[in-house]
Amino acid sequence: MTGTPLPGRVLQGIPRFFHELDRELGERGLSYRSLGPCPDTKRLVLLDNDDAAEIFWVQNTWLNPFQFEFESIAGAAQALRDIQRNWAPVLCTQYRRGALIQEKLPALPDKPRPFPWKAPEAPMGSWTLLDAHTLVASPRCTSPFPGGIIAFTENKTDPPSRAYLKLWEALSLAGTWPHKGERCIDAGASPGGWTWALSELGATVLAIDRAPPESRVQNRPGVTYLKHDAFTLKPGDLGKTEWVFSDVICYPPRLYAWIEAWLASGLCNNFICTIKMQGPSDNETVRRFAGIPGSRVVHLCHNKHELTWIMTKV
Ligand SMILES: C[S@@+](CC[C@H](N)C(=O)[O-])C[C@H]1O[C@@H](n2cnc3c(N)ncnc32)[C@H](O)[C@@H]1O
Repeated sequence: MTGTPLPGRVLQGIPRFFHELDRELGERGLSYRSLGPCPDTKRLVLLDNDDAAEIFWVQNTWLNPFQFEFESIAGAAQALRDIQRNWAPVLCTQYRRGALIQEKLPALPDKPRPFPWKAPEAPMGSWTLLDAHTLVASPRCTSPFPGGIIAFTENKTDPPSRAYLKLWEALSLAGTWPHKGERCIDAGASPGGWTWALSELGATVLAIDRAPPESRVQNRPGVTYLKHDAFTLKPGDLGKTEWVFSDVICYPPRLYAWIEAWLASGLCNNFICTIKMQGPSDNETVRRFAGIPGSRVVHLCHNKHELTWIMTKV
């Protein structure tokens, strides 16, 4: 069963940031319509004139959606199972019927994951119901996490902030992370959530911030604190390092200029940086980040009004 292919991609909006998706699509001249009867009109959006450009303000992008009619719950589940194993529901209507279909599909792990965790390579599809007998499904999606969402087993005692969760998510998406003894620069490190997570992996961390990290992080083995404006430090001042991280609150062009200097220096190959938005999002700079070969920009489910730029060379 392959059904009827839909003409473009389906975008799964982020409930708190529908306005950003709206703006982004407008900037690109892309028109769209809501898929089915979602009360939140941008929960699932079908692009009318898809130009295949990367869209950033989404939870997940459905790459090859198709629509099909079905008679019975068992028939719908069978049609999905015939394609592949993993399917995540994204329902806006027909919740009971949707739950009954999902019960007949292989169970998705619903427990929080410990970190480090590598996403399985098997594809994770998404599906929704438009009405009692019409299903839209996409076997391929940009996120390996069900519905674009991942939960980790949290450590509620050691890290001083919950910011480490977005670092864990970014590293899980990258499929790689710092190993024992690797050198990391953590710009905008305080109060110390990312530095804590990196030192837990056995990496050595140079934590740069104008304000000190909490002492329990600063005193961890392998952690050194440097009180400085990170962006006035040139790559040559900091030297060769396996990883550069930034969670600095700043205007995106300032971060971009610093990263450009790192790329030109050849002193680091692996980067994870939060692109923080102050006011309406600066999508022009976001597109410049995304244009850096071998890298990508995503909205993590642990991101707030910000995006994450990821570049790793394994
Ligand atoms: C969102 S917090 C970082 C949280 C941190 N990643 C964690 O896990 O706890 C942003 C930090 O950026 C720092 N910051 C802002 N501008 C900076 C700059 N130019 N250089 C270094 N740090 C800066 C702030 O002092 C603040 O501690």
